[in-house]
Amino acid sequence: MPSEKLRHSVRLKVAAAGLAGLASLATVAGLRAEAPAPAPAPAYVPTVSDLMIATIQPRHIRLWLAAHSGNWAFSAYELGNLKGAFNRVSRAQPLVEGNSFAEMNAAVTQEPFEALAQAIKQKDIGRFEQSYADLTAACNSCHQALNRAVVAIKVPQAAGVADQEFTPAKE
Ligand code: HEC
Repeated sequence: MPSEKLRHSVRLKVAAAGLAGLASLATVAGLRAEAPAPAPAPAYVPTVSDLMIATIQPRHIRLWLAAHSGNWAFSAYELGNLKGAFNRVSRAQPLVEGNSFAEMNAAVTQEPFEALAQAIKQKDIGRFEQSYADLTAACNSCHQALNRAVVAIKVPQAAGVADQEFTPAKE
């Protein structure tokens, strides 16, 4: 049988361990409170190239698809979106190697954009083809001017977007 003295000393040791535990918890809590807040994640800044393949190239294809499906309403919608996407690239990346993206873009795309808008309004596929070829040439003239001739854009021969209906719904 443990003596009363032994039991007393065990109780003291348990109590001491408890206090030490509490003290170390307090220290950890104190450290946590003093730790600096983690730095916010740096903003993701898309490059011109990211924006081209994410926002320009798909709309260039979809514009063609829509007109070739006789969907003039969607062609008009997508033409507006393509122009808007170019404007956003100009704001996100105002300078490309010291050149104003907005100015270069306006110089090459303004005319084909206006001609495309007319062709779409008149539902004229012949005029659309011509202006779409001019727009495609405009894409390449900017790529060449900025030493990116390796990026060669062409009029789609056949293109598909697997999950979207381009044929207009019957009214
Ligand atoms: C005002 C200039 C300008 C115009 C107009 C322009 N682009 Fe670009 N594009 C660029 C530049 C600059 C790059 C290369 C960016 C880089 O390498 O960082 C590029 C790159 C690209 C790329 C390659 C991206 C990659 O990562 O593979 C594609 C695709 C592209 N453009 C599509 C188009 C299409 C389609 C059009 C016309 C509807 C167009 N671009 C019009 C400036 C332009």
